[in-house]
Amino acid sequence: MRMVDLIEKKRDGMELTKEEIDFIIAGYTNDEIPDYQMSALAMAIFFNDMTTDERSYLTMAMVESGDQIDLSAIHGIKVDKHSTGGVGDTTTLVLAPLVAAVGVPVAKMSGRGLGHTGGTIDKLEAITGFSVEITNDQFIDLVNTNHVAVIGQTGNLTPADKKLYGLRDVTATVNSIPLIASSIMSKKIASGADAIVLDVKTGAGAFMKELDDAKELAKAMVGIGNKLGRKTMAVISDMSQPLGFAIGNALEVKEAIDTLAGKGPKDLYELCLTLGSHMVYLANKAETLEEARQKLEEVVANGKALEKFKTFVAAQGGNPEIVDDPSKLPTAKYTIEVEAKEDGVISAITADKIGTAAMILGAGRATKESKIDLAVGVVLLKKIGDNVKKGESLATIHSNQEEVADVIKRIEESYSISQGNVDIPSLVYDEIK
Ligand code: URA
Ligand code: CA
Repeated sequence: MRMVDLIEKKRDGMELTKEEIDFIIAGYTNDEIPDYQMSALAMAIFFNDMTTDERSYLTMAMVESGDQIDLSAIHGIKVDKHSTGGVGDTTTLVLAPLVAAVGVPVAKMSGRGLGHTGGTIDKLEAITGFSVEITNDQFIDLVNTNHVAVIGQTGNLTPADKKLYGLRDVTATVNSIPLIASSIMSKKIASGADAIVLDVKTGAGAFMKELDDAKELAKAMVGIGNKLGRKTMAVISDMSQPLGFAIGNALEVKEAIDTLAGKGPKDLYELCLTLGSHMVYLANKAETLEEARQKLEEVVANGKALEKFKTFVAAQGGNPEIVDDPSKLPTAKYTIEVEAKEDGVISAITADKIGTAAMILGAGRATKESKIDLAVGVVLLKKIGDNVKKGESLATIHSNQEEVADVIKRIEESYSISQGNVDIPSLVYDEIK
């Protein structure tokens, strides 16, 4: 086989076979196929798309390019959740103990990565003593006994995706549905998921700004997952404002605790119940979605969800006292209010601008070397549809620097205040199965 012939085939709109896709990904991973040929192929895929068969062959070839996590020693159906990227997305911190409390095994492998705030691991490390440096055997034992554990990323997962993603970034081929879908699904499958619940965000603050694009991406991922024997579904949810109130690591841990206690932000709780119901249902822990939801509401009401979070924290060396007393989490030196400049109704909050504000405070990493400040971030006090008076607080900045003029300006700019009627966006737009 010659790469040039395969580029030509895709350029002319024909379908690649499994053998051809395996040849391309194996060759690219071990540097036999150069970047310039792979770039040409990525551009041909960008213009000519891929069939569901091609997408699943590509996904599997990327899974097989590196290590695969074997979770077979864990009893039950391992359901993973993936979000296409929200700002201050606290859902994982809530969902892991929430669904574990009804018996769904949650075996979470997480990385640190770049972003507005840290990844799940950074957030959990805001809890004194919490460690993800556990052995594979400890990880499996914890999931079998306690139904939830988090381990740091180990092994060489999907190196083909890593290399291809880097190439796409500099060749204007990131924004291709088949390439995004296979990239995300390859990582989920290599991490050992039996079933996958996807949270595809749409709106101004999301990767997929238009609802139709979000649906198309969701359908692509669900198509790949089901074709590869992993029960997969997607929820399309709103990102026209940040979810919940808190954006920042320790701040989000506190928000997760509030939510598990049934006292969190309504939108965050509702989305967690929706995603969680699908997880419980796919794990065969309920006969219907309604039953799954009831079970989740029950463990919040009777305190078992919060108790599960406590056990989980303690099992990985963390101080469980933070659950009853979140003031034991790291706190920032200064709190600074951002005030409304006029009366009106909040009509929009640009999530990515708020995210950047949190990152400037030190809540997230701009480069792999940046050090995170776990205490800092932003807490929103007003959301879309809320009335506001001039001089009232829109948000509170938690900072370790006194001088935050730039951050204040960004938060002011992210809020739109309207004098007319404001439509409150739906939280969930669609479900794709
Ligand atoms: N996120 C990924 O993991 N891959 C993509 O291609 C795009 C977003
Ligand atoms: Ca949040």
